[in-house]
Amino acid sequence: MHSGMPTGTSAINDVVSIEIIGNTGLIALDNPPVNAASHAVRTGLWQALETLQQDDGVQVIALYGKGRTFIAGADIREFGKPPQDPWLPDLCNFIEDTEKPIVCLLHGTTLGGGLEVAMSCHARVALPGTRVGLPEVTLGILPGAGGTQRAPRLAGVAFALDMITSGKPVSAEVALEHGLVDRIGEGEPREVALQAAQDLVSGALPRRKTGELAATPDQAAIDAMRTKLAKTQAQLFSPHKCVDAVEACHLPIRDGMAEERRLYNACMESPQRAGLIHAFFSERAVTKVPEAAAEPREIRSVGVIGGGTMGSGIATAVLLAGLPVTLTERDQAGLERGTDTIAGNLDGAVKRGKLSAEGREKILSDRLSTSTDLKALADVDLVIEAVFEEMSVKREIFGTLDTVCKPGAVLASNTSYLDINDIAATTGRPEDVIGLHFFSPAHVMRLLEVVVADKTSPEVVATGFALAKKLKKIAVRSGVCDGFIGNRIMTFYKKAADYMMMDGASPEEIDTAMRGFGFAMGPYQVADLAGLDISWAANKRRAATRPKEERYIPIADRICENSWFGRKTGQGFYIYDDNGPRPNPEALSIIDAERENAGVTPRSFTSEEIVERFMTAMILEGVRVLEEGIALRPIDIDAVFLNGYGFPRFRGGPMHTADVIGAGELVRRIEAYAQEDSYYWQVPELLRKMAESGETFAEMNTRG
Ligand code: 3HC
Ligand code: NAI
Repeated sequence: MHSGMPTGTSAINDVVSIEIIGNTGLIALDNPPVNAASHAVRTGLWQALETLQQDDGVQVIALYGKGRTFIAGADIREFGKPPQDPWLPDLCNFIEDTEKPIVCLLHGTTLGGGLEVAMSCHARVALPGTRVGLPEVTLGILPGAGGTQRAPRLAGVAFALDMITSGKPVSAEVALEHGLVDRIGEGEPREVALQAAQDLVSGALPRRKTGELAATPDQAAIDAMRTKLAKTQAQLFSPHKCVDAVEACHLPIRDGMAEERRLYNACMESPQRAGLIHAFFSERAVTKVPEAAAEPREIRSVGVIGGGTMGSGIATAVLLAGLPVTLTERDQAGLERGTDTIAGNLDGAVKRGKLSAEGREKILSDRLSTSTDLKALADVDLVIEAVFEEMSVKREIFGTLDTVCKPGAVLASNTSYLDINDIAATTGRPEDVIGLHFFSPAHVMRLLEVVVADKTSPEVVATGFALAKKLKKIAVRSGVCDGFIGNRIMTFYKKAADYMMMDGASPEEIDTAMRGFGFAMGPYQVADLAGLDISWAANKRRAATRPKEERYIPIADRICENSWFGRKTGQGFYIYDDNGPRPNPEALSIIDAERENAGVTPRSFTSEEIVERFMTAMILEGVRVLEEGIALRPIDIDAVFLNGYGFPRFRGGPMHTADVIGAGELVRRIEAYAQEDSYYWQVPELLRKMAESGETFAEMNTRG
């Protein structure tokens, strides 16, 4: 028996215990943090049921989870390892077949295998605030413990299909409305579970075996979902298998579950499953930084300098997270522009149902204040500077902040490329200075690079991570270099794209190939969206220090010389008008002229070659970023690209993709491309060593 347990409680194992109270056998699961259905939970639960079955004094069984949630799913860490008995589907059937009535108490996030266990019980009661869902599809699999068979029996085919193919959880109220749970009960999980058991005995709560119910046929819902997924998720594997599995729900439950198992196994073997689960863990891995143990400073108010594209987006994100913002600009007109953009962003939040109309008014009247004087930032806990990307402007501002801001205020820059050490050096408190690099639009994009300069204190780093959490963003730690993790790698692979464009591939061919790989947009669509003027400015800044060996492609600069900056001016690589984006013939003429100037005879590129060169370049610079310690681990680079650059989630990120390709193959490719350009294509030492030793990036992620 565990110490500290109430009398009458006996431990089945470390994570499952039983307690007999009157006629009720109460099973408690205690597998922190999320009660994942690990091997120990499955074994313990099985044994607990057997024990209670055999106890003549027990008339009814109740099941609940201790801590913050009932089972939040199968234990994802066991995926990819040999499965160990008892399997979750067998356990679910065993629960359903239990002679004595059994009720399940749902609370917290009852997801995946957790909901499957609950659906196998004979009745379900949820606490208010419970989220219920089958998110397996987001991990590249499908509910594999009867979820595709029992959910349609309880909630109907159409509702089950939506839930299973979207992976989105629903509230306890919605679950009740659709029959997934039988009642919402208030109180402590243990007490509500005990009461529910009594109601099951008295008949106040009906007892049903889900597997014995019949789902009402709804072929129209199945056909409609197939059509929708063929359009929206053609590249993904598991959503389509989810529909196939649900379609089997009209078979007897065991036959349906056999079909579900066959489809589940196919998903498990798919490389998309590995990519998506890597992506899941990447979001959690990035929080494990050397400064994690430091105490973050308290942030009760934020100052934002500059109300342009980024400043207004950052201010919106901070306001939506419930913090007051003081926005400063150069003049009144700038303030008005910034405030209008913020108000427009908040309108969008109201439209999407994320904010009430009153909430919007309250934010604008109570939480946002503005000034043209940096002195207005004297009392804020954190300042985020988002002015023009010019070192002289940033230096001047940080010099002023040093004299204006209270001691202990965190001073952050949103610079895309500039050296945070230089910025910090203009203050007498470099330990308070950090880079907080948001992505556009800042109130939408989830990535935040936390750029740690030489003297940044651990508490300030921890504060950056705490802020990201508050803003519901994914923070990734980066060291200082030109462009940090993301933009540095992008600047490099963009050159590989430009070389292909110069040598014969059209921007549209390159974009189409990269979309085919799974990117949301190709590199030239991204360039047009971000504004070609931004890279033009960076090209000019770097011109003086550009190595003479580097092959320079001036095509985008030539386009900019016509004041064609992409989407915002109506044309760039593409034309944007009422007929939708289409290749810009003028840009194509510039490309032809530049090829001629450089004496290049254009050749054709297959999509495969485009993807290979593009990905090899991305990985190559990723390896250098690792070698230099700019990124802590390969998985941090993956998190940056998944959350800030539209990298296909099912491919797990560039460094996960590198493992799929293999270091040996990457070295071979780089050496082959080096025949044309030995300056750009150089094998990083680390990659060569990996090719020799067989070490993978996945292994580096787990190394302490
Ligand atoms: N298996 C193993 N570990 C898990 C896990 C799971 N299913 N779910 C969460 N964890 C771990 C996390 O990795 C994290 O570990 P760490 O502290 O070492 O980094 C820890 O639990 C806490 O997780 P979060 O930081 O995510 O905690 P939150 O409170 O923010 O979120 C949650 C909780 C909503 C449950 C979220 O963790 C989540 O969405 N988990 C995944 C749920 C899921 O996908 N379930 C389905 C699994 S597949 C399945 O059930 C197959 C079946 O059909 C056969
Ligand atoms: P922007 O040109 O849209 O906005 C800059 C704003 O700063 C202007 O409104 C200007 O009036 C204001 N400003 C200039 N000097 C000022 C001063 N001394 N005091 C107060 N306000 C001042 O520029 P954008 O795109 O918002 O970029 C801002 C910063 O964010 C830059 O450092 C940029 O590199 C970075 N960034 C930009 C991203 C993008 O996609 N646009 C993405 C991530 C970072």
